[in-house]
Amino acid sequence: MAKRISTPKIKALVAGNWKMNGTGRQLGEVSKLVTAVNRKKPSADVMICPPATLLSRMAALKPKGVALGGQDCNADIEGAHTGDISAEMLKDAGARAVIVGHSERRADHGESDKAVRAKVEAAHRAGLMAIMCVGESLKQRKAGETLKIVQAQLRGSLPAVCTAKNTVIAYEPVWAIGSGLTPTVAQVEEVHAALRKALMRRFGDEGAKMRILYGGSVKPANATELMSVPNVNGALVGGASLKAKDFYGILQAYC
Ligand code: 13P
Repeated sequence: MAKRISTPKIKALVAGNWKMNGTGRQLGEVSKLVTAVNRKKPSADVMICPPATLLSRMAALKPKGVALGGQDCNADIEGAHTGDISAEMLKDAGARAVIVGHSERRADHGESDKAVRAKVEAAHRAGLMAIMCVGESLKQRKAGETLKIVQAQLRGSLPAVCTAKNTVIAYEPVWAIGSGLTPTVAQVEEVHAALRKALMRRFGDEGAKMRILYGGSVKPANATELMSVPNVNGALVGGASLKAKDFYGILQAYC
């Protein structure tokens, strides 16, 4: 077991990453989630990060108690980047946050730590909270490199100035994403403790207050256990965020 580190009381965040899923037909899930969240308010902040095509349509629903976020942004404000979206555009469409450096972007689009850092800076420039993801592959875990990998990603992907308000970290082991596999409680605790230590070393009090989410096969059935691990301050949820019933089931860990 990793050494427990006492940190100030941190309000958790449970964010749903819809990835490349959802058309107008799925907007009803957001309405259902809003109804559930307002019937019994969880003690965690709740967010949905839909594909960019749905962002302004979701924002038009004025989803009380459910904040919205983007899934990626270009580092520039505007310009000749066909197909890309800036942090300012996400903000304009109703986002409060943006996920950056997700392992799927790091893998599919070859995003380096340096590129991710520029996106975190772009998010801050636009007034968005950056949800910056780190995580090891199965090969790296088997080689005993997990802490080294996530610490290097953390170091390289965050700019010099970050606050607990404008930055959230998500630890997502690549092998746990969409696989139904999750690390043991002890493994989650070890990584989150190491991330907390690194954040405190670099950002002092702000690092102590920064949220560190766990992501990778979070489901209603395992949420309570995962969310009660020290230094786990919420979840980044993929598949189980697509249905209001499942996502609210995860939020039960905070009800
Ligand atoms: P799953 O919850 O589907 O494993 O996805 C996790 C994830 O990648 C969230 O960003």
